[in-house]
Amino acid sequence: VRRIDRPSDLLECATPDAWFARATRELATLLIDHANCEKKAAGTALSLLYRYVDKPRLLYRMSRLAREELRHYEQVLAMIESLGFRYGHLSPSRYAGAMRANIRTSEPGRLIDTLLVGAVVEARSCERFGGLAARLDGALGRFYARLVDSESRHALVYYDLALSHAADERAEDSIDARLSQIVGTERELIVSTDVELRFHSGVPAENTAA
Ligand SMILES: [Fe+2]
Ligand SMILES: [Fe+2]
Repeated sequence: VRRIDRPSDLLECATPDAWFARATRELATLLIDHANCEKKAAGTALSLLYRYVDKPRLLYRMSRLAREELRHYEQVLAMIESLGFRYGHLSPSRYAGAMRANIRTSEPGRLIDTLLVGAVVEARSCERFGGLAARLDGALGRFYARLVDSESRHALVYYDLALSHAADERAEDSIDARLSQIVGTERELIVSTDVELRFHSGVPAENTAA
């Protein structure tokens, strides 16, 4: 099984500079989608509480995770307000749906893949938070710097749960292949052109046309 020591081990590519250039110009959109991502992260953790009631270790970790993601959600809402932006409806990006499409439909594959997708999504969030922290000044830059640690921890929690669940099900042999597929999908979503800016969007269309 592949050794994962840090979230970047779960990613095959860095976020292109063109994404950071646009994200730091369109902060309102970035922050509104970021709030939606925190909400979705909490929702994913909660849905696992409903589905896997016989796995106590998973339940504790997902309950803690859901609370932490909701705290992030509140912090992003406060940041939106303090910067004078208005929170409103925003369509989701293609990213989450395309990542979820990798998840097998029957157990134990379903839970293993869900946890691996969670690990990779958290790893990407962690990488983008770090890049944003380096490019943004003031309170927003500091806010993103603080989020790097928690998303890093989340990525490793998900990966650790995936490994232990696979071990319980004697399915460790499948982990590397599943992770490769998920990481490959993720890379494609990050390096290909994407129409709208979102927290997990690909290369902004405007920059590829220029
Ligand atoms: Fe979060
Ligand atoms: Fe997270």
